[in-house]
Amino acid sequence: MILRREQAPDRPEILALIEAAFPEPVEARLLRELFASREYLPELSLVAESADAEILGYVISTRAWIGDTPAVGLGPIGVLPQWRRQGIGAALMHASIDAAREQGEPAIVLLGSTDFYPRFGFVPADSVGIASPDPSWGSHFMALPLPGFHAGIRGHFRYAEPFSKL
Ligand SMILES: CC(C)(COP(=O)(O)OP(=O)(O)OC[C@H]1O[C@@H](n2cnc3c(N)ncnc32)[C@H](O)[C@@H]1OP(=O)(O)O)[C@@H](O)C(=O)NCCC(=O)NCCS
Repeated sequence: MILRREQAPDRPEILALIEAAFPEPVEARLLRELFASREYLPELSLVAESADAEILGYVISTRAWIGDTPAVGLGPIGVLPQWRRQGIGAALMHASIDAAREQGEPAIVLLGSTDFYPRFGFVPADSVGIASPDPSWGSHFMALPLPGFHAGIRGHFRYAEPFSKL
């Protein structure tokens, strides 16, 4: 398996993968809009590809804001059902975190499972001063502060525009 950046010709296969990975069509719909949005960050969006060039997993990142400070919003992430629990999701997360850190991003923020993301260092976003767009998300709204993070970066979190249509 290799990890590489997503490229435009990959998108039909990625959309099919995300449709297979999630029980509802909402994530694939969101992804289609994120690809078309100006907040898309292709340099932080990665595919996991098998030796015979099948895409097994994908993670997208988009531009987001903490108050007025640009940050990264991560997700959706998905792995084909038959390829789960083999480390692909973790590999995508580590690579995407490394890329964001190298780019000098101050933080990655996401909404997701409290069983999966804390192992990568994610903590409840409000514990580092990042206010959720929806308080009902509770501890599922998480952030990973990177070396560029500092106490002056705080406030309300805003996702890329397509998330507001969910
Ligand atoms: C979540 C997902 C991307 C994980 O991919 P994966 O390739 O199976 O993950 P990994 O094999 O790297 O698993 C890493 C660890 O996370 C655990 N894990 C995997 N999926 C998990 C989940 N849904 N909930 C909790 N823990 C999970 C694994 O047990 C493993 O732990 P271990 O190393 O202690 O055994 C994949 O299950 C998926 O596509 N799910 C459907 C889409 C989805 O729900 N995405 C967003 C989740 S918020």
